[in-house]
Amino acid sequence: MSGISDVLKEDLEYTYNKLSAEEVKKLENSSILITGCAGFLGYYFVNFFYYHKDKLNLKNVICLDNFMLGYPKWLNEIAEDERFIVKKFDIIKDKIEDISEAKEADYVIHMASIASPVFYRKYPIETLDANIWGLRRLFDFYIDKELKGFLFYSSSELYGDPTPDAIPTDEEYRGFVSATGPRACYDESKRFGETMCMLFAQKYNMPIGVARPFNNYGPGMKLNDKRVPADFAKNIVDGNDIVILSNGTPTRTFCYIADSIAGYLKILLYGKYDYFNIGIEKPEITIAQLAELYMNAGKELFDYKGQVIYKVSEEKEYLTNNPQRRCPKIDKARRLLGYEPEIYAEQGVYRFLKFIKESTEEQLIW
Ligand SMILES: NC(=O)c1ccc[n+]([C@@H]2O[C@H](COP(=O)([O-])OP(=O)(O)OC[C@H]3O[C@@H](n4cnc5c(N)ncnc54)[C@H](O)[C@@H]3O)[C@@H](O)[C@H]2O)c1
Repeated sequence: MSGISDVLKEDLEYTYNKLSAEEVKKLENSSILITGCAGFLGYYFVNFFYYHKDKLNLKNVICLDNFMLGYPKWLNEIAEDERFIVKKFDIIKDKIEDISEAKEADYVIHMASIASPVFYRKYPIETLDANIWGLRRLFDFYIDKELKGFLFYSSSELYGDPTPDAIPTDEEYRGFVSATGPRACYDESKRFGETMCMLFAQKYNMPIGVARPFNNYGPGMKLNDKRVPADFAKNIVDGNDIVILSNGTPTRTFCYIADSIAGYLKILLYGKYDYFNIGIEKPEITIAQLAELYMNAGKELFDYKGQVIYKVSEEKEYLTNNPQRRCPKIDKARRLLGYEPEIYAEQGVYRFLKFIKESTEEQLIW
């Protein structure tokens, strides 16, 4: 595998080592279909399977994306391997039947759906459709096939802006969500998608697992993604000041991708219906504190000389319905899946910036 950074290699090993021997065995010799392969999580998943393809003796990995946010050049090398079937495919309207290998898939990871608020607000109906019709079309296709696992990507946004007593948030919190706000296309379609997962699992006994990710960041998040961890990284790489587009007080717990992907794989391999928060419990930090972490790592890695400044976003709805606090309880995933994230924000930010320093432009922007 040419040209991938040492940080990424270490991370891909770390994620693999988070799997139990039983989980690894389930992945061996399998065929995996991924929608949304060109996104942030797609980058990490595809690289994970590519890096471990021989060890896992993978049959094939079917990588689908409509490339609506750009075609990543890093996929070219991977597509040269005949076991990696890369196709331009729109989950809303293209026919899965036309992909001959799809019917043999053991596992499906349905990630197609823009996750960056700036971009899903630009494509609200496409976002809604990918989570609803895209999901339904996959279920209709796989209903009578022998799937071992189906992973649907929901979101922590399903909880909306939780009331203070519901933070940290567990899986049984019902949410405080606007059905008509600028984030509704995303939040409500994830909620409806989850209902669909529950019904198809109940009625057709499909092995559907639902992941509710909490603020992932790290290798694969492109610099032009427009989520905060990418914006700060871009500020540092460009040598500009770190720009905070709020008053800096909203809090999050940031979960490094090498940890979260282990959690997602565990849900995929669980083999039966359930829903899980996947994130990290601590530290819950403000956006201003996150900026400090970037600043410190930037000084060391990039000889960064900028400062933190505050501005108002040019996008009118940037902060509308933006949750003030977001922090998960992950006891359920810990108990049922053995999920145990260990990379805290300080280390994760450092690793992300080091990855950026070690990577080529085509791994950072597409
Ligand atoms: N990254 C996070 O922190 C996070 C948090 C919560 C939920 N999620 C969910 O995880 C999944 C992946 O997130 P991500 O960060 O990689 O998102 P991303 O926006 O980086 O990537 C999404 C990918 O889906 C593709 N896509 C969109 N609509 C499509 C369609 N109709 N057909 C085919 N491809 C389509 C896009 O081209 C893009 O490559 C999404 O479902 C997202 O909602 C992610």
